[in-house]
Amino acid sequence: MPDVQDGRSTGGASTAVIQSDMHAQIITYLLLGTIIVNSNCFPGTKDAPPASRIVFKHGKVSGDYERFKTLLKAFEKNNPGIVVEDEALPASTDEQHQFYVINFEGGRADFDVVSMDVIWVPEFSRAGWLLDITDMLSEKEKAEFFPGPIRAVTYRNRLYAVPWYIDAGLLFFRKDLLAKYGLSPPETWQDLVSSSLLIMSTEPGVHGFIWQGKQYEGLVCNALEYLWSNNGDVLRGERVAINSPENIRALRFMRDLIARYGVSPSLVTTSSEEPCRHIFGNGRAVFMRNWPYAWNLFNAEKSPVKGRVGITTLPSFRKGASQPVLGGWQLGINRHTKHPAEARALVRFLTSPESQKMLFLAAGYYPARKSLYRDRELMLQQSFLPELYRLFMKARPRPVTPYYMMLSQVLQPEFSAVVAGLKTPEDALASAQKQIEHILEAEYDQ
Ligand code: GLC
Repeated sequence: MPDVQDGRSTGGASTAVIQSDMHAQIITYLLLGTIIVNSNCFPGTKDAPPASRIVFKHGKVSGDYERFKTLLKAFEKNNPGIVVEDEALPASTDEQHQFYVINFEGGRADFDVVSMDVIWVPEFSRAGWLLDITDMLSEKEKAEFFPGPIRAVTYRNRLYAVPWYIDAGLLFFRKDLLAKYGLSPPETWQDLVSSSLLIMSTEPGVHGFIWQGKQYEGLVCNALEYLWSNNGDVLRGERVAINSPENIRALRFMRDLIARYGVSPSLVTTSSEEPCRHIFGNGRAVFMRNWPYAWNLFNAEKSPVKGRVGITTLPSFRKGASQPVLGGWQLGINRHTKHPAEARALVRFLTSPESQKMLFLAAGYYPARKSLYRDRELMLQQSFLPELYRLFMKARPRPVTPYYMMLSQVLQPEFSAVVAGLKTPEDALASAQKQIEHILEAEYDQ
């Protein structure tokens, strides 16, 4: 993708459209009206048995929770006799994962519908924790979703979840500051360093580049974007390929951003998505790596950076290509649910085009359904949807395997030690190589 937003190749003509919150709200209510009045939107949801209470677990909603809640109310209205209790877990994917592992292992049946990170579904499916819902989507219906998430929710040719919303790593930048210094959005990591240094030299109190460097899954996503954009990788086929010169160089660069160039403050070594969003959202950074959800929040009515933010593809190393990580969340059903029909109705409702559209307007979550990227109302809210569509099509999945979290648990402390300056990239990657080889040998022997 050449450029998501103004700058680079679009010649600055397409200033990202920032519509007012009020506009978004009007659309939300109109849409909600459609959802409630037209209950035929959700076939099969009317025959649910009476007075069932189902529990829907999901991560903390980053946008307008009340509007998110309205969506669940619309479901209840369409499905008299089903009451949905939604229970929010912490925003951190690792903490949510831990909750599910403990509770699924204990065979708990006190939650029915679960929202899952794209990286967990193979693990949960193999463990037998999810209901097989293969019959919920025909091949034709599957083709309506982005292919990456569909691959991630399919295990041994069976479907275990339905894609809910999609994510990919993006570079946010302050277009007012870039314009002031006559700069274009950076295409290479080195360009990003030079532009940051130039702006920081005359804008006191402004950080150059902030990103997620805390020891958690978000750091693995960030690091993979450097490795991949330098032609490196973790696995090549069944071979462990983490200890390579490309990866050493990419990882060293991450540390250099803090220690050598000084464009990233050392606080990035303890930052996850939300702290980064707050710093950038308060106007205290030129560049930020984050997921697309932050866009709506930056352009909300009282945001200090409203109208001053651009987004573009992540940079790459000179000999590599930009390679954003695929993220996103999927809805599945606890195998021990006592209310499978009601749970299926809720999954069908929340993953319908109408609900995904509403979720975008309420919480800034990007639809996992492709057709919505041509939706006129959504385009009004977000002028660069077609570019995001291309970005989501090419976003690269982390290894799709039931043992992904084991790999991540090796990578998290090793990457963190490099970023914090406690280990050299050479030592960290040699250690990761050994540990991952060990895990895979054990897996293949099973
Ligand atoms: C976002 C992504 C998810 C990723 C997580 C890392 O929630 O959607 O896939 O694992 O961030 O923090």
